[in-house]
Amino acid sequence: MALGLAGGYGAFGAVLGRFIYPARAAERVWQFVTPLNRLATGDSLTYTTPAGAEVHVTRRNDTGGSEDFTALSNVCPHLGCQVHWQPQHNRYFCPCHNGVFDSDGRGIAGPPEGMVLSGYPVEVRNGMLFVEVEAVPLRAPETRS
Ligand code: FES
Repeated sequence: MALGLAGGYGAFGAVLGRFIYPARAAERVWQFVTPLNRLATGDSLTYTTPAGAEVHVTRRNDTGGSEDFTALSNVCPHLGCQVHWQPQHNRYFCPCHNGVFDSDGRGIAGPPEGMVLSGYPVEVRNGMLFVEVEAVPLRAPETRS
């Protein structure tokens, strides 16, 4: 009985602790992607974030500002397949069920119609492109004994 009470109070304490100290939102950081002159208008590259997410960075214009670029997740919101950029059609395409997204990531045909690809903020500084992504905390290296 004592163990049951201790377990019950322990679980209650854990729930109370989460209520008093809720989990913080993930910290975000700006990550360098590429110099602007390495990504021509109409081209796209895949950038892998420190957390392992793949981001399609596409250059759609040549004014030199951040509005020239989109940074979108490559994960289809329908069932999670990988989308890719088709420059000849100015769209993203998901081959799993022929899903089509416009250059802003809005689903315009197929099952993901009306859904959107997740976006990442972009910024241009001194001729270099940065994308804001979730930070990954550093871990101490494991030691072998
Ligand atoms: S998973 Fe992309 S269209 Fe179905």
